[in-house]
Amino acid sequence: MSGKVVFITGGNRGIGLELTKAFAADPANTVIASARDPSKATELQSLSNVHKVYPFLLKKSTRVISFTSSLAGSIGGFFEASSSGYGGSKAALNHFTKLLAYELRDEGFTVIAVHPGVVSTDMGNATVPRFGEDTRKAMESLIITPEESAESQLKLLLGLTKEQSGKFLSYTGEELPW
Ligand SMILES: NC(=O)c1ccc[n+]([C@@H]2O[C@H](COP(=O)([O-])OP(=O)(O)OC[C@H]3O[C@@H](n4cnc5c(N)ncnc54)[C@H](OP(=O)(O)O)[C@@H]3O)[C@@H](O)[C@H]2O)c1
Repeated sequence: MSGKVVFITGGNRGIGLELTKAFAADPANTVIASARDPSKATELQSLSNVHKVYPFLLKKSTRVISFTSSLAGSIGGFFEASSSGYGGSKAALNHFTKLLAYELRDEGFTVIAVHPGVVSTDMGNATVPRFGEDTRKAMESLIITPEESAESQLKLLLGLTKEQSGKFLSYTGEELPW
């Protein structure tokens, strides 16, 4: 499953950087990664088959859009943690995912929202300690590295089926409640 054209936002660090590296490890893939300040994105710049321009994903017949969401945005899978602003924004992203999957269905797009796991990035490391004791302990037991998250997401994305379009999925592939 190589020869993909992949576009990744926030590709300079964290999960975005690891996903970029995971896809770029196959030289047959064309990876386009964005960064707010490319001059500081030194690790990203060092990857040889990562492109800075957007060469029309529409050129490919396999069309996948994966939005990085969070379990914090799930209403059905609500867990007790105070994250209304963040969780609300991810719930809006989840709704957007569902609508876009509907709107792009005739163009052959598979559109999904993905919970990347509890990941030891700048954001994850800063967030987990802020929760109350019970939630913090539960989250700490789930922590994975950015590399683990990216590897699992790569597997998920390369194995996606059209039937999964419009779904909210964990990085493990498990379907999550909206
Ligand atoms: N880590 C977790 O446990 C976890 C769990 C669930 C969901 N997520 C989601 O995973 C995604 C990646 O998070 P991460 O853990 O990899 O975080 P991270 O290591 O802190 O990296 C965040 C990335 O997003 C970029 N970014 C932040 N604000 C932006 C903005 N306003 N416009 C454009 N780019 C922006 C950053 O660019 P700069 O370097 O320019 O700031 C950086 O590339 C996020 O959507 C997060 O909500 C993470």
